[in-house]
Amino acid sequence: MANIPEHVLSDYERLKDELNQHNHSYYVLDDPSVPDSEYDRQMRQLQDIESQYPSLRTSDSPSQRVGGEALSAFTQVHHDVAMLSLDNAFSQAELEDFDRRVKDRLNYAALTQPPEIDYACEPKLDGVAVSLLYRDGLLERGATRGDGTVGEDITANVRTINSIPLKLVGDHIPSLLEVRGEIYLPRAGFESLNAKAIAAGEKAFVNPRNAAAGSLRQLDSKITASRPLEMCAYSVGQFVAETRPDSHLSMLQTLASWGFKINEHMQVVSGIAACEDYYQILAERRDGLAYDIDGIVYKVNDLRLQERLGFVAKAPRWAIARKFPAQEEMTQLLDVEFQVGRTGAVTPVARLEPVFVGGVTVSNATLHNGDEIQRLGICIGDTVIIRRAGDVIPQVAKLVLDRRPANARPIVFPERCPVCDSAVVRAEGEAVARCSGGLFCGAQIKQAIKHFSSRKAMDIDGLGDKLVDLLVDREVIFSVADLYDLKTEQLQGLERLAEKSAANLVAAIEASKATSLAKFFYSLGIREVGETTGQTLANNFGSLEAVIAADTEALLEVDDIGPIVAGHIVDFFRNPDNLSIIQALRDAGVSWPDIDQNAQASQPLKGQTWVLTGGMDIMSRAEAKDRLQELGAKVAGSVSAKTAQVVAGPGAGSKLTKAQSLDIPVMNEAEFIEFLNRV
Ligand code: IVH
Repeated sequence: MANIPEHVLSDYERLKDELNQHNHSYYVLDDPSVPDSEYDRQMRQLQDIESQYPSLRTSDSPSQRVGGEALSAFTQVHHDVAMLSLDNAFSQAELEDFDRRVKDRLNYAALTQPPEIDYACEPKLDGVAVSLLYRDGLLERGATRGDGTVGEDITANVRTINSIPLKLVGDHIPSLLEVRGEIYLPRAGFESLNAKAIAAGEKAFVNPRNAAAGSLRQLDSKITASRPLEMCAYSVGQFVAETRPDSHLSMLQTLASWGFKINEHMQVVSGIAACEDYYQILAERRDGLAYDIDGIVYKVNDLRLQERLGFVAKAPRWAIARKFPAQEEMTQLLDVEFQVGRTGAVTPVARLEPVFVGGVTVSNATLHNGDEIQRLGICIGDTVIIRRAGDVIPQVAKLVLDRRPANARPIVFPERCPVCDSAVVRAEGEAVARCSGGLFCGAQIKQAIKHFSSRKAMDIDGLGDKLVDLLVDREVIFSVADLYDLKTEQLQGLERLAEKSAANLVAAIEASKATSLAKFFYSLGIREVGETTGQTLANNFGSLEAVIAADTEALLEVDDIGPIVAGHIVDFFRNPDNLSIIQALRDAGVSWPDIDQNAQASQPLKGQTWVLTGGMDIMSRAEAKDRLQELGAKVAGSVSAKTAQVVAGPGAGSKLTKAQSLDIPVMNEAEFIEFLNRV
């Protein structure tokens, strides 16, 4: 070893240690510490050193074994035919090298016209390898790969997987058959499993492969049974039968005939150039598949050629895996910024050291909310795993705790809005924190103005979304109150606004000043306060001042107002900036008729639920609804035993039939109008 440089020796020892640790985390703990891409990179470095200095290679080198150690909790199983791994290729050039090696080994150079090799192409499923032993057609044993020679007995668990036949069907069933394949969790199953785990306050799985591995390593097979795992066969190990198929393709077709699932994209092509075409096609289809794949496996199709080619220590000479660009990569969390959305939601955004993952360079990723930051347990300065699968937005999937630097800083969720400095509040039971400066906050202002001027709110005709954007962007207005100071001359200067329309808009703004208290509440854009709640507030409190003064308890006394809405209302009116904008609106002349508290007490339809169905010829449905609500009624969308009255116009259908069957009084539009005139 004297001629091996010192730095190579120390690199080699470090790589061996790190790879062994990764192996342990990955295979034994089901908790990968680094993304596959990082693992592959380190393995390549190790292999490079070993090929340059073969004397270094020892039996404990991670390059010499296929997997990790078997877990002791399951019975150990010896694989009579070793379960090997595959060599990887990361480019077409490396695939061409493979093809050359195959041809050299088969002595094709000696032929005057060497034929192309037929390759079976299959997606490389991203799951867990399994061995299934069938004796006389009955499933006897299921085992994991383990270290390739000794695996774990997971028979009870594999029996729960529906796509694994318990008994083979069809003809010429071999006396002994060992089927090998991949157990995996389709994406939809993964999503629903994680949704359930999160709802139950449990830890989510990082990716479908991890979830499949975790599901198989359950001592209680009932848990495995509840996981929507699938199994796809891709080769055979032990095989004792009268006849044997002569190609990989016919072997798989035979397995399919005995009841196994085989991959639907499997295809045999001639020559290595066609393998590249297959790769491109599958790379394009990858995002649309129902399951994760991490590359393509190419196998010499002719089984006699496979036999002639044989194996090296770790992998067959007749197969290779071409890997897709990684969907997980490691990078550093440089900072966390907090963005305020149009609805006031305050979202933490991770600023990352740019990293190439899933085919794009990622430098930002959403962290969703405070709970997500806690779940991940991340600090600024940490190394994190970024995952980008398909078109899905990049996610921070996991923290790599081993790499936490000494100067890592905790992430502090702001108490004040970074845009307007209003208090940030988080309603009970909600994951999202929001800025409470609804009318005042620069981030929410466009949304607030568009909502304020919409038809069912202050109904300002001619103030379209584009114009609102323009007025805010040009800093002509800063709040809803500024609308009432707009002058025709100011508007005329703006693009696309003729003199006439500018004047019309000013007139519409003026006309909007006369409104109702219910509409005014709705216009403020308080979270979850829609038209009906606006009306409820007006009916029950009678004045703006009374609602501003109401505390949560007072609001909760009102039917139809629950704790979440009550919380939003209190937060909104506690914000002094919102109050000063309301004052400015009143000063500008926005007003409504007072609701006479006595009249209100005698609201004739209070407590009643009405249903409007069918067409209306004379008044609009919106008008009818407004009138009913003013009279204290609740207007519902469906008929039930609690419905007091149905108004049915032409074309009324199932709601009318239901009302009749429940003996609920029905009136037509003319009768309704007459009724309104009477009350
Ligand atoms: S063939 C002797 N075919 O990839 C060859 N493997 O390192 C045995 N894999 O963990 C493997 N899809 O579980 C083969 N269509 C496929 C595969 C596949 C996924 C996995 C296999 C193993 C790894 C190879």
